[in-house]
Amino acid sequence: MGLLIRVVYLSEVNIASGDLLPQLRAIHDVSTHHNREADISGVLLFSHRFFVQLLEGPRLRVTETLGRILADHRHDNIRLCLAREVHARMFRSWSMRLVNGDPNFRLNDTQRTFDPSLATADEIMEMIERGCVPDGQGRTLVAAG
Ligand SMILES: Cc1cc2nc3c(=O)[nH]c(=O)nc-3n(C[C@H](O)[C@H](O)[C@H](O)COP(=O)(O)O)c2cc1C
Repeated sequence: MGLLIRVVYLSEVNIASGDLLPQLRAIHDVSTHHNREADISGVLLFSHRFFVQLLEGPRLRVTETLGRILADHRHDNIRLCLAREVHARMFRSWSMRLVNGDPNFRLNDTQRTFDPSLATADEIMEMIERGCVPDGQGRTLVAAG
């Protein structure tokens, strides 16, 4: 197997609320298709007005995919949180799992709504691990909020 990298970014949703669900499904569908072909796995968390996405796979493929994602107008203020070489995947089963986060989830007591923009990379990774525990069944799903 070639060299693997893991990339995590967060961004702000730029989709009108009435259009959100169909757009999330469209993003999920296209991601599942492309990522399967590119040997990429990962998760896309959506909560309140933020996306947090983890992508892992061959570094050329991940970089090409990230290039498309960065140019996508359905989100903006994209911040890279982490990019590192890894020896094993966290989310082998999912070409892209979409997780619609618990609307009441907060990173700490001072937050009125979920806001990962000031979270450290460690806090974001912990949140991903807590929010997206693999169920081992290889399903892609939209978890209920
Ligand atoms: C938050 C977000 C996450 C996305 N994640 C992926 C992804 O993991 N893989 C992917 O191929 N496209 C992803 N996309 C879609 C790409 O930006 C782009 O629209 C798509 O790859 C273009 O595919 P097409 O050229 O076949 O139309 C994402 C878009 C958004 C807004």
